[in-house]
Amino acid sequence: MKGRILVTGGAGYIGSHTTVELQNAGYEVIIVDNLSNSKVEIIDGIEKITGIRPAFEQVDCVNKAVLTTVFKKYPDIKGIIHFAASKAVGESVHKPLLYYRNNLVSLLNLLELMPEYDVKGIVFSSSCTVYGQPERLPVDETAPIQPALSPYGNTKQINEEFIRDAIHAGASYKSIILRYFNPIGAHPSAEIGELPNGVPQNLVPFLTQTAIGIRKELSVFGNDYNTPDGSCIRDYINVVDLAKAHVVAIERMLENRSDEQLEYFNLGTGKGLSVLQLINSFEQATGVKVPHKIVGRREGDIEKIWANPRRANEVLGWTAKETIEDTLRSAWNWQLKLK
Ligand SMILES: NC(=O)c1ccc[n+]([C@@H]2O[C@H](COP(=O)([O-])OP(=O)(O)OC[C@H]3O[C@@H](n4cnc5c(N)ncnc54)[C@H](O)[C@@H]3O)[C@@H](O)[C@H]2O)c1
Repeated sequence: MKGRILVTGGAGYIGSHTTVELQNAGYEVIIVDNLSNSKVEIIDGIEKITGIRPAFEQVDCVNKAVLTTVFKKYPDIKGIIHFAASKAVGESVHKPLLYYRNNLVSLLNLLELMPEYDVKGIVFSSSCTVYGQPERLPVDETAPIQPALSPYGNTKQINEEFIRDAIHAGASYKSIILRYFNPIGAHPSAEIGELPNGVPQNLVPFLTQTAIGIRKELSVFGNDYNTPDGSCIRDYINVVDLAKAHVVAIERMLENRSDEQLEYFNLGTGKGLSVLQLINSFEQATGVKVPHKIVGRREGDIEKIWANPRRANEVLGWTAKETIEDTLRSAWNWQLKLK
C-alpha cells in the first residue's frame, strides 16, 4: 500500500474515476462526500471495477467539526485530492452564497486541518474558466486570469488564491492545481460515469439523453461565432485520462519529485472541437442520430478555448490518450446502462 489519500467528492463524476485509478496504483482511498450531487451506488461501481471497496464517509466538508473526525479516524492521511464543490455555472448565478459557502469553506477547512494532521499535499480541481476568453490559443498556464463570469468561476479563482496565499505565508504542504478543460465520457466498464442531477448543464450528458429519447432535442447555442462552423469550440478530455493525471500529481507531491511547492497544470488534449463536430463524432462513433437545432447564443459562453497541455506532457509525463470516438462511445454505453 502506497499510503492513504483523502478524496473529497469521491462519489462524484471525476472523483469516482480518480478513486479507481488511485486504487489501481496501490493507494488506499478514503472518500468524503455528502452525496449532494452523487449516489452511494457509485461506491459499488468502484468496488466492481477494482475489487476494492474504498472507505466512505458521508460528511459535508463545510462542517469542520465532523470533517475533523475523519482525520482522527484515519490517521496518516498523506495527501488530499479535493473535488468536493458545487459546479453548476447557471445555478451559481442564482444561488451565489450557496456556492461561496460550499466551495470556499470546504477548502478553508481542509487547508486549516492539513498542518494539524501532517498532510503533505493537496491536489485542487480548478478549471480553464479561470482564463476567460484567452487572447492567444492554445492557452498555457502563464495566460492571465480574467475576471470570472459567474460565482462558480469566481470560487475557483478564490480557491486558487487561498492555496497560493497559504503557501506564500509559510504553509509546509505542497499543492498542485489542475485546470481541467472539458471532461467527458465514462469508465470503459460502464460501472461509473457522470450522473447529472435534473436537466444536464453539460453538453455530453444532454447529448446522450437526447440520443436515447429522454430529451426531445439538443440545442446548439449559437452558430455565428468566429469559428469554422460558427459553433463554440472546446477541448474535450476523457475522464479516465483526466483521472490518471491526478495519480501522477499526487505521486509527484508525495515523492518530492519537484522543488516547487505550488504548481499549475492545464489538463486537456490540445485539440479544439466545435459543438457541431462533437455531435457529428458521436453519430459516427455510435451510429445513433442526435436530433438538434441551432438556437441563440447562451449568456456567459466563451467562443473558443483549448489547452496547451505541454507542461503536463513534459513535466508530469502525462498525456491524454483516448480518442474522441472511444470517449463518446463510453459516454453512450454509460447512458445505455443508466437506462
Ligand atoms: N465536470 C467538469 O466539467 C469540471 C470542469 C472543471 C472543474 N471541475 C471541478 O472538478 C470537481 C469535480 O467535478 P465533478 O464533475 O466530478 O462534479 P460532481 O458534482 O460529479 O462531484 C462533486 C462531488 O462533491 C460532492 N460534494 C459537493 N459539495 C460537498 C461538500 N460540501 N462536502 C462533501 N461533498 C461534497 C458531491 O456530492 C459530488 O459527489 C469540482 O470541484 C468541479 O468544480 C469540473
